[in-house]
Amino acid sequence: MAACGVGLLIRLSLRVQRSQVQRPLRRLLSCPGTVAADLRREEQSSGNAETGSEDRTPKKRFSVVQNERREQAQRTVLIHCPNNINEKKFLKFLSQHGPVNTHFFYESFGLYAVVEFCQKESVTSLQNITRTPSLGPEAAIPFKSRYFNLKLRTSVNQTSELSSIQCSNQSSPSSKKLYQLLCCAESVDDQLNTLLREFQLTEENTRLRYLTCSLIEDVAAAYFPDCAVRPFGSSVNSFGKLGCDLDMFLDLDEIGKFTAQKTSGNFLMEFQVKNVPSERVATQKILSVIGECLDQFGPGCVGVQRILNARCPLVRFSHQASGFQCDLTANNRIALKSSELLYMYGALDSRVRALVFSVRCWARAHSLTSSIPGAWITNFSLTMMVIFFLQRRSPPILPTLDYLKTLADAEDKCIIEGHNCTFVRDLNRIKPSGNTETLELLLKEFFEYFGNFAFNKNSINIRQGREQNKPESSPLHIQNPFETSLNISKNVSQSQLQKFVDLARESAWILHQEGKDRPSPSSNQPWGLAALLLPSVTNNVPLSKKKKKPASERIKNLLDSIKSSGAENSTATNGRRAISTQA
Ligand code: CTP
Ligand code: MG
Repeated sequence: MAACGVGLLIRLSLRVQRSQVQRPLRRLLSCPGTVAADLRREEQSSGNAETGSEDRTPKKRFSVVQNERREQAQRTVLIHCPNNINEKKFLKFLSQHGPVNTHFFYESFGLYAVVEFCQKESVTSLQNITRTPSLGPEAAIPFKSRYFNLKLRTSVNQTSELSSIQCSNQSSPSSKKLYQLLCCAESVDDQLNTLLREFQLTEENTRLRYLTCSLIEDVAAAYFPDCAVRPFGSSVNSFGKLGCDLDMFLDLDEIGKFTAQKTSGNFLMEFQVKNVPSERVATQKILSVIGECLDQFGPGCVGVQRILNARCPLVRFSHQASGFQCDLTANNRIALKSSELLYMYGALDSRVRALVFSVRCWARAHSLTSSIPGAWITNFSLTMMVIFFLQRRSPPILPTLDYLKTLADAEDKCIIEGHNCTFVRDLNRIKPSGNTETLELLLKEFFEYFGNFAFNKNSINIRQGREQNKPESSPLHIQNPFETSLNISKNVSQSQLQKFVDLARESAWILHQEGKDRPSPSSNQPWGLAALLLPSVTNNVPLSKKKKKPASERIKNLLDSIKSSGAENSTATNGRRAISTQA
């Protein structure tokens, strides 16, 4: 996971789509200070083609999005620019090679431009006029990539040139800004949607992720022409937070596929190949050479580590220009399929992503998750827990994987390495849920549900959407949806699980107490999600005041009593609160 905080400087010419339904700005605009102004700017300029918590437009299939983005990335170049570049002249220079479709600037240890041409030929034309630098005493390894360095032949008047670049910071907000934004919200539901909007990947960040994969593909293609490097995980499953790592896999499945189909008559041609004892050894060998190649020749690839003995062998490196921490694997089609499944779940109901983002941020704020591998719960596991919880609502908000399988047609059929990964891929064939529960209620109930979950005997299983006996003794058991014998949270220790349970109970308690006794807006006390999320806030004031650190057993009993008496509340709240103009 990279905590890179890439600051993107966006040129507004980027054609972004806006979600159809915009959240009312009335409350936000009444907030004092810069936060409201920031928000207004973002409401006006932001948009995400595949996301947006209230977007009701028909969603594209995952494979369609992947193919479009990949093709777009192949027409795109990355250029390191001098800080005093003149944007107009820069575009004029580039358009000699063909029309530019979109472009934007970002900052990451220097100024970079991402330029998408209308045609692929323009990239070749630009490469043809590009030279390999002469570096004085050092020697350059010549590599004709799509990552360029632009130099100015003559120096220019810096002040007049600088004003032509528009800047916009795309990194996630600081804790302070987030706190202000959440306190300005008009309801807990509004807080969850605000958090989603602030943390989700932007259009530009998504483009940069696909471009980075495409640049790595160029390097891998030196060994394996016709290979593809595909992003998966949170970069594409719609649950990625700004700064999340870039998971990618080297797809060699396409090699030789089409040629084989074209063969006719009684002859069958096969490539002469080297054989190795197993698929795993083949993957290790392939990743070993690609890792070496990235290390020695890959422009901008630094800190390359080959972690080949892991269950899923990988090459980890930093892509300096984009700032992404990258994990490259090979033959990882099942993980791509689970990214597709999560993408579908995220697109089915606007509450899913808002809830997942809040739970992920809550877990991060309380150090339940970490960027360092260890005995902690991962974001992937948390997402599965939210999906499972939403399958358990009455009526369910999300369908089970088994149900999605029953809706599949012949084209959806997918078997990978003997595992049945079939489910319907056309989102429009899945009926929306009739459940109208608010995000506030769902968040509270999520914490209650998992604060009381029988982790000692039950497993979480989104395929069937019901609790099952644990097949093994790991403290936390979450079944991998496709490789059903695997536990995706096998790494989680008993103490980390207990920490999660304790915090879930505390958070349910805070939200329940708040429902009865929400701090007055003038008290300037954090409320709702802000009270749960910000460690500085929860450590200092309200938790200790409200409950004098109750033992987790006491909270559990209280929650039980809430449960039995709270049925009438469960449908009544609409998540609104008194509107205040105080930040
Ligand atoms: N994955 C899996 N089983 C695991 C861990 C990961 O199948 N035990 C797959 C999932 O498809 C996951 C992807 O690998 O989405 C990438 O893993 P990871 O980077 O850990 O999770 P992300 O979902 O990308 O979340 P994050 O934002 O934390 O990177
Ligand atoms: Mg990831």
